[in-house]
Amino acid sequence: TILILDFGSQYSHLITRRCREHKVYAELLPCTTKIADIDFKPKGIILSGSPYSVYDKDSPHVDPAVFELGVPILGICYGLQEIAWNLGGEVTKCDHREYGFAKVQVNKFGNGQVDALFRDLGDEMDVWMSHGDQLSRPPADFHVVGHTDTAPYAALAHNSKPIYGIQFHPEVTHSVRGKEVIGRFILDICKCTPNWTMEEFIGKEIARIREICGPKGRVIGAVSGGVDSTVAAKLMHEAIGDRFHAIMVDNGVLRMNEADQVYEMLNKNLGVNLTVVDSSDRFLTKLDGVEDPEQKRKIIGNTFIHVFEEEAAKIEAAAEAEEKKGADPKGRVEWLLQGTLYPDVIESISFKGPSATIKTHHNVGGLLADMKLKLIEPLRELFKDEVRALGRLLDIPAPLVQRHPFPGPGLAIRILGPVTREQVKILQQADKIYIEEIRNAGLYDQISQAFAVLLPVKAVGVMGDARTYEQVIALRAVQFVFPAPILKKISSRITNEVAGINRVTYDISSKPPATVEWL
Ligand code: XMP
Repeated sequence: TILILDFGSQYSHLITRRCREHKVYAELLPCTTKIADIDFKPKGIILSGSPYSVYDKDSPHVDPAVFELGVPILGICYGLQEIAWNLGGEVTKCDHREYGFAKVQVNKFGNGQVDALFRDLGDEMDVWMSHGDQLSRPPADFHVVGHTDTAPYAALAHNSKPIYGIQFHPEVTHSVRGKEVIGRFILDICKCTPNWTMEEFIGKEIARIREICGPKGRVIGAVSGGVDSTVAAKLMHEAIGDRFHAIMVDNGVLRMNEADQVYEMLNKNLGVNLTVVDSSDRFLTKLDGVEDPEQKRKIIGNTFIHVFEEEAAKIEAAAEAEEKKGADPKGRVEWLLQGTLYPDVIESISFKGPSATIKTHHNVGGLLADMKLKLIEPLRELFKDEVRALGRLLDIPAPLVQRHPFPGPGLAIRILGPVTREQVKILQQADKIYIEEIRNAGLYDQISQAFAVLLPVKAVGVMGDARTYEQVIALRAVQFVFPAPILKKISSRITNEVAGINRVTYDISSKPPATVEWL
C-alpha cells in the first residue's frame, strides 16, 4: 500500500488513481493523520499539493513520525515544500503564481546517469505547474535532480535516504510522463508489487464479506439497474447466496420496461434473490402535476425510503417467522448493502482545512435505523472503472457494465414541466428511440451520458393537411457531437413514432457552463 497524505489539493485523488493504474493499491488519508493511528505499514508515502503556504499560521503539517518510518517519501508541490519546512530548507513566494506547462531538465550526475525517479524518461519533460511558492534553499543533504528555467529546485533527492520532492504535478495528464514518474517512485523506489487487480480483489472481497457477515444473518440492498448496485449485488450473491435480498423499486419514472429488464438480468441471468416492487402508482400520484425540480427530487427520495423500508420490514417479518418455526433460518436482517464508491469516500475524508468536519453517507430512514442495520460497502475502495472491470469479471454483460449513469429521480427531472403519466410515456418512447439509434451507430460507449429531455412548450407543425400543435424533445449527449445524418435519423424516428412530438432540437452546450441534466 502507498499512503497518500492529502493537504487539500484539487488533484490529490488523481495521485491515488495513477498508483492504481500501476496496479499498486493506494489509499488517501488526511494530512493530519497520525502515523500511530494507521493500521497498515505503507511501503511508501506521497505528500500531496495544497492551496496553503507552508509558513501560513493555519497551514497543515504532517506528523513528523512520517520521516522516522524509514519508507520512501515523495513530496509533490506543497509536499516538496513541506519536506523542506520539516528538514530545514527555505520556501519563498514566487513573484507571479506559476500555472501551466513548464519544461523540466533532468540533471545528470558526473557519470551521465540520472536519478532513479527519472530513469529513461528523457532529458527534458513537459510538466504541469501550479504553485505560488517555491523552494529557495534546499535542506542540507539534498541534491537537485531536475530544474526548470524559473525553478532551480524543481526536483530534489536526499543524498542517502529515499526522500524526494518535485515542484510539478505528475498526477495530472498534462504532465506527459507524469504517470511514469509516479511509477518510478512506487515500483522502483518503494518496490511495491503490482498486484492490485480486480481478479485478486474478487476472491479477497468475497472472503471478507463471508468473514464479516458470519454464518448467519441476512443482507438487504437496493438495486437500480445501474452498474454499481448490480456489481455490488452480484458480489454479495457470490459471497452469501440467498441470504442477500435485493430490492428494486419501480418509481414510475424509469426508462421503458426497465424494471422488467432488471428482473430478467439480476434474477434470471445472475441468480440474485430480487424483489421488484411496483410502486409506480404511488410515486406518480404524489408527483402528479409537480413542476419544481427540487420538489420532484424530494418526493421521489422520500417515497423511495418509505417503500424500501416497507419491503425491508416484510423480509424481516418473514425471517422472524422462519426463526420461530425453527426451520433452518438464514437468520435475521442484520446488514444494509450500499454501493458507495471510493470517490464518495475521498470526498468525505479529504482535507478541507483545519476546521473540516467529516461527512457521512449513511442515508437510512427511520425504520432502517430502528432495525439497527450495519452497513456493508464492498465497493468503497474502488473507482468507477475498477467497478466496471469487476463487473466484467463477474460475468455481468458488457451493455450493463458500460451503461451511462441514470439519476435516482429518473425521467422526472428530464420532464421540464409538470410530471404526468402521459408525459412520462412520451419521454420513455423518445428516450428508447434515441438510445437505440446511438447503439445502432456504435457510439454508445464513446459517450459518457446521453438522454432525451421533454420540453414544456408546444410548437406548430403539419401532418398531412392539418396543423399540429405538439411538444418538443431536446437531445443531449454530454461533450459529444453527432454527425448530421445520425441526428436526422433520430429526429425523423422520434417525430414519426412518438405521438405528441412534432419537433426535435439538439442541445450542443458544453459543460460548463451547462450542467448534465436540464433540471
Ligand atoms: P449535473 O446535472 O449536476 O449532473 O451536471 C451530474 C451527474 O449527476 C446526475 N444527477 C443526479 N443523480 N440524483 C442522482 O442520482 C439526482 O438528483 C441527480 N441530478 C443529477 C446526472 O445525471 C449526472 O450524471
